[in-house]
Formats: sequence, C-alpha cells, structure tokens
Amino acid sequence: MRFRTRDKCIVREFGLNMDVGGNLRFVSHSAEQTADLGCGLGRVLKPGDIICLEGDLGAGKTCLARGIARGLGVDAASVSSPTFVLAQEYPGRLKVYHLDLYRLTSSDEVEDAGLDEYIWGGGVAIIEWPEVYTPLREHDRLVVKIMYGPGELCRELVFIPHGERYRRLLEEMRTC
Ligand SMILES: Nc1ncnc2c1ncn2[C@@H]1O[C@H](COP(=O)(O)OP(=O)(O)OP(=O)(O)O)[C@@H](O)[C@H]1O
Ligand SMILES: [Mg+2]
Repeated sequence: MRFRTRDKCIVREFGLNMDVGGNLRFVSHSAEQTADLGCGLGRVLKPGDIICLEGDLGAGKTCLARGIARGLGVDAASVSSPTFVLAQEYPGRLKVYHLDLYRLTSSDEVEDAGLDEYIWGGGVAIIEWPEVYTPLREHDRLVVKIMYGPGELCRELVFIPHGERYRRLLEEMRTC
C-alpha cells in the first residue's frame, strides 16, 4: 500500500528528506498537516507495530496520534489525550492502544498499571512520553521525534526506525 492520505502522496506533499542515518524528516506547518502525516502512517501500520512519540509538552504528539488513529479507521473525534487515564483503546481496522506515560516515573509503574499488556498486545501501540519504559529501548519500534520549529505552527518531525520492520516502513514511505 502506498503511503498516501486521501489521494495525495504524503512524502511528495511534505518534501522528502532522508538523512544519512536512514531517518525521514518532515516539516509540518499546521496541526492539520501533522495529523495528515499521521493518517498516512496509520494506513500502512500492521498488527504489533509500536510507535513511540517523543517531544516537548504541546509539541503535537496527540495531534499526530489522532491522525495515525484516523488512518487506522478510528473516528478521530474519539481520540483525546490519555494523560489522565494513561491508556485508551480504540476500535479501528486494528486494535489501537494510545498510551501516555507522562505521569509515570519508572518501568515498574508502567507494569503495575498493566500498561505493558497494551504495548505488547499485538494491536498498534501509540505511546506518548515512552522514555520512562526502558524495555522499549531493546525492542523494534518506530520513534517519531517532534520538535518546535521557527514560527508558532512549525514543527519538525523525525521518523527514526529501530529494526528491519520499521526500516522497510520508511522505505515504503520514501518510494511513495
Ligand atoms: N504543526 C503543528 N503540528 C501539531 N500541532 C500543532 C502544530 N501547530 C500548532 N499546533 C498546536 O499545538 C498543540 C499540540 O498539542 P498536542 O496535545 O498534540 O501536544 P502533545 O505533544 O500531545 O502535548 P503533551 O505533551 O501535553 O501530551 C495543539 O494545540 C495544536 O493545535
Ligand atoms: Mg499529548
């Protein structure tokens, strides 16, 4: 499947920039564009995929997650920030688990809350503030770093693949 959202090739629309490390870089100029980028990603995800969203407070992680969920067939209106409930499950083309580990301080806390079952649960796991859960560091996953750019609405997104599955996913995006 092509990495498309609606009828547009997402890479061509955003401008492709693969760096020497094999990461894909995009510049988004609005929340809508970030969500569209997420939607394109959501369309090509498979069961068991793990997407880690890193970035400062308010950078746009939930915005991207909402787009990913839309691409997986989830009603976007049902996607809100799970900061207080820690995890939300949405029915879509696949099971979608949206987690926010911001309020947790250790891997033990993640497991005590039972969140590891969502992460390794065989659906698609989208994880905001994933750094606290250290077992992820040893596991194949796609990390997306979202950084504030110049201007209020500008964000740089870097897609960093860990493992063959995610290198192939980025290649699919690159050759869109
Ligand atoms: N290019 C952009 N991409 C994403 N969000 C943007 C962009 N420009 C402006 N915004 C705004 O930035 C905010 C991002 O909020 P969001 O909740 O997605 O951030 P977050 O990273 O999930 O925050 P938190 O760390 O609190 O979980 C929204 O208000 C959104 O409208
Ligand atoms: Mg958020």
